[in-house]
Amino acid sequence: MSDAVELKSLIGGDWRQGAGAAIESTNPARPGEVVARGRAVLPADVDDAFAAARAAAPAWAATPLHARGEVLARAAAIIDANAEAWGAELTAEEGKTLAEGIGEVRRAAAVLRYQAEAGNREQGSVFASPRAGEQILVTHKPLGVVGVVTPFNFPIAIPAWKIAPALVYGNTVVWKPASAVPLLAYRLASALHDAGLPAGVLNLVLGGSALGDAIVDHAELDGLTFTGSTGVGRSLAGRVAARGVPMQAEMGGKNASVVLADADLDLAAEQVLFGAFRSTGQKCTATSRLVLDEAIAEDFLDRLRALLKNWRMGDPSSQASDMGPVVSERAAADIASSVMQAVEGGARVVLGGEAPEGAFLAPTLLEMPSGAAGEENLAWNEEFFGPVLSIRRVSGVREAFEAANHGDLGLSCAVFTRDIATALSAVDGIDVGMLHVNSESAGADPHVPFGGAKRSGYGPKEQGLAAREFFTHTTTVYLRG
Ligand code: UN1
Repeated sequence: MSDAVELKSLIGGDWRQGAGAAIESTNPARPGEVVARGRAVLPADVDDAFAAARAAAPAWAATPLHARGEVLARAAAIIDANAEAWGAELTAEEGKTLAEGIGEVRRAAAVLRYQAEAGNREQGSVFASPRAGEQILVTHKPLGVVGVVTPFNFPIAIPAWKIAPALVYGNTVVWKPASAVPLLAYRLASALHDAGLPAGVLNLVLGGSALGDAIVDHAELDGLTFTGSTGVGRSLAGRVAARGVPMQAEMGGKNASVVLADADLDLAAEQVLFGAFRSTGQKCTATSRLVLDEAIAEDFLDRLRALLKNWRMGDPSSQASDMGPVVSERAAADIASSVMQAVEGGARVVLGGEAPEGAFLAPTLLEMPSGAAGEENLAWNEEFFGPVLSIRRVSGVREAFEAANHGDLGLSCAVFTRDIATALSAVDGIDVGMLHVNSESAGADPHVPFGGAKRSGYGPKEQGLAAREFFTHTTTVYLRG
């Protein structure tokens, strides 16, 4: 890419150059290449953003749902029209492959289009009353001003699936994206602004974590939606819950692919490859645990190794690459050091395990030691958020499900079997928010609920009709004529 894009924040309908520290987003695949630059806004600007969001809230809430949806639909068209260019920017800024970058931009447009249709769906319910001459209605109303805090790994899709329902259900927003990906945030905010969103309805604040703190602790905050690490999510939840502010958090995963003895091994190997190594493993839904029935373990690993032989790591902007770097050199070093710790704890390197080159880290397969040492190994329990897959061998379906369920996270799981009864038993037997039968553990369609079981999620699910649950509260109306 040639010239760095100039970044601005959006506050009260005006693009604002911050007076804070310089911000730069850099290309993890090409050290020294600056993709976008600008200046951070200050926490005092966050006050302006909240004031603007509060002032805009009544008129936006009073705007017909269909009209709010039309703004989202126009923004979706703008995003689609720029999918190739913004996809290339996403690749330069975040490091996922060009196909994934363009795909993500299109997915953001699809999310906006889905939520834009909210006005054409039912918007509440009517109950019979036990009293004559009365009906009971349940209506939905916006929360007010919602804080949105988003991660680096899906710099436009995750913001879209939080901001679109927030807006369509009549909330106003103050948004702080991860500091590694300001450019795609700027693009999404521009699309909504250019689509005719009224001033103050969406405010974007670019800068470091002090801005996130200013949002979370703001007295005008009526709701907070967050995606990111389990540690940060829990600590934010504590802070907002202490003030009675509702929160939706989508946090860590340690997702298993379970390959049973009767699985189609070629299909399973391909899907495990995609689940573990697409987006360089940087998805909360990525496959980071592989549970293999010992009857097919060697056969399966041979097939996976064969696929990995042709899996090309390289510059993600090249069509020839299947996998780019992780988000930064620092992230690569952290993941490599976690791998070393896992090996000290008894894990065996089956493939990869080399030191990173810059932000490039090769796919790594780790076999856990048997027994309790395997169950307790760091690589079986911690989300490394990189291209590392941890393997355990088991005997039979019951042990396989136990291994998949281990620990307090429960985001997604993939089960590979040809037997319908076994597949059905996984529905109750594996405690996750998303269960895939014979497909990879990642993925999130815009029209269905997304989020985790156990400690992976907090508060209502995202996407689909489920999104309304967090972004509205209900009023029960006892209506007598
Ligand atoms: C996907 O699996 O395609 O942070 C999306 C994440 C998830 C999104 C996953 N919230 O990785």
